[in-house]
Amino acid sequence: MPNHQSTKEQIKRTADIVQVIGQFVQLKKAGKNFMGLCPFHAEKAPSFTVSPDRQMFHCFGCKKGGDIFAFWMAYHGLSFLEALKDLAERYHIPITEAFSPSEEKKKSRLRETLLKINEMAALYFQRTLSDAETGNPAADYLKKRAISKEIISEFRLGYAPDKWDGLTHYLEGHKIELEKAGQAGLIIPKKGGGYYDRFRGRVMFPIFDLRGHVIGFGGRVLDTSLPKYLNTPETPVFHKGEFPYGLHASFKAIRQKGLVVIVEGYMDLLALRRHGLDEVVATLGTALTAEHVRKVKGYTKEAVVVFDSDEAGKDAALRSLPLFLNEGLPARAVVLPDGHDPDSFVNAEGLPKFLALLRDASSMFDFFLDQKLKEKGSGIERKVRILKEILPVLSQLRNAAQRSLYAGRLSERIGIKEEVVLSELKEIKKNLSSGALERDLTGRLTASKVEKKIGDFQLLNLLVHHPEAATRLKDADCGTLLSDAAALKIVEVIFEKYRREGRFSPENLEENFDNEEVRTCLREVMVADSIYSDQEVKQAIQEIEEKARQKRFADSVREVKGDPEALNRLLQKLKEQGPPNL
Ligand code: UTP
Ligand code: MN
Repeated sequence: MPNHQSTKEQIKRTADIVQVIGQFVQLKKAGKNFMGLCPFHAEKAPSFTVSPDRQMFHCFGCKKGGDIFAFWMAYHGLSFLEALKDLAERYHIPITEAFSPSEEKKKSRLRETLLKINEMAALYFQRTLSDAETGNPAADYLKKRAISKEIISEFRLGYAPDKWDGLTHYLEGHKIELEKAGQAGLIIPKKGGGYYDRFRGRVMFPIFDLRGHVIGFGGRVLDTSLPKYLNTPETPVFHKGEFPYGLHASFKAIRQKGLVVIVEGYMDLLALRRHGLDEVVATLGTALTAEHVRKVKGYTKEAVVVFDSDEAGKDAALRSLPLFLNEGLPARAVVLPDGHDPDSFVNAEGLPKFLALLRDASSMFDFFLDQKLKEKGSGIERKVRILKEILPVLSQLRNAAQRSLYAGRLSERIGIKEEVVLSELKEIKKNLSSGALERDLTGRLTASKVEKKIGDFQLLNLLVHHPEAATRLKDADCGTLLSDAAALKIVEVIFEKYRREGRFSPENLEENFDNEEVRTCLREVMVADSIYSDQEVKQAIQEIEEKARQKRFADSVREVKGDPEALNRLLQKLKEQGPPNL
């Protein structure tokens, strides 16, 4: 099986992991590494570490990590081969080995096929829209909705003609396996055999992933019939609630402004963009998900969510507060005047008025309290309900200053003494899982210089940061000092490499291990700072040698216990070698 080693290495030499990950996660320099909020789990303080020296990443919270390929696979949900292809294409590196059909593979093949079919369908819908005759009703409709030509082409809007077999025919003509197009959700099997188009007589909105691939579609009717929007069902490439719509086109503007505006609908997003507001994404009618927030927080410092004025909109706003607090993304909420959505508002009032609403938006937290305080029920009942909902969320805030700030605001707003709020908060915090605390601690311990006693971690750190120490450590048989099985595995492999190759470089070491625990252990050592300065290395080696000797001595004494002759032999030997410095 080809393993694409040379392509892999070329990509690793060409692409910089900080730059690649930096496109998706906001990274800040911290010592020799870069840190950011992990895109793979909820966190408010950065434990996601990217090491330019090692060209690897590691999250001290959720333990995900690896090289540039591991990141690309995890972030985009791809197989290794898909990631390889992507990155090879991006960095103009030819793939020299053939892809063998037996590889990973059916799944990634299928995804690739579905993306290709989606792309063909998108082209078909685009062409149909621009056809003077067939596309006329849709073109008229879009004009009526004030969608410009530029927006139509940038977002690749199209039209599915009002026929049962428009796309089906087209795909057949292009030798596409219809069963696959069915799996892409574009056509539907008929009872008596054959297929028919899912989308008929609708304006089509392709939905893109962050790589710009078409992963699905939404289609809107031109009149008032129902359902108003029809969407691609779940497919191997389309998962509802995963990507905010429009992010592929907006992320640069979002990063530049440090702000993302979150709206609900296709039309809302397109209308705002036409008026010149680029830093916008849409949730497409589903409630905001943690996945959404996690994707945008890689680009922005703050989110403003625009909610419809109806009940459902307000409800969605209330449910989104914990999401933002949990992900550590500051958020504000805008509720539009009655009867408006962003599309109708910006078209009626213009962008400056919309921007003014954004500017004056209150924090999601205050908005939450405002709404809750308006709810039915007697005073006390309401207060207890609010506390019960919000305290668990607040207790998870790691930043103590922020926590007490919110506690203060809460007490002020609902009229409960601050001491009471704080003591309730403490109660909840005490009962919080110890797992979170432990992770926190591990992160701190491994990221900073701890006292320089020689334990498993220190020994590994020494080996990985000062490979030249390997000779003496190997001769000293220092493996006997290790208590952790993962650490021992790593040291054994390093020594074996050393024995065979006469040297070793810590890069690519991870490939030698299948066990995730061992890999995690290795990554944590690799991205950590060196504990020992160059001047301290010699002394550390001596200490380890000495400890190993002591250990051997203790072991042999234990062995010869109760055997006077053997004990004598041992003492004789020690006389020759000199005693250990006990
Ligand atoms: P809205 O009903 O608010 O529609 O749904 P809209 O975006 O304002 O649409 P226009 O202005 O009438 O054209 C908001 C979003 O919810 C999803 C769509 O993504 C829509 O943009 N939705 C809505 C559906 O998926 N299906 C539906 O039947 C309705
Ligand atoms: Mn609308």
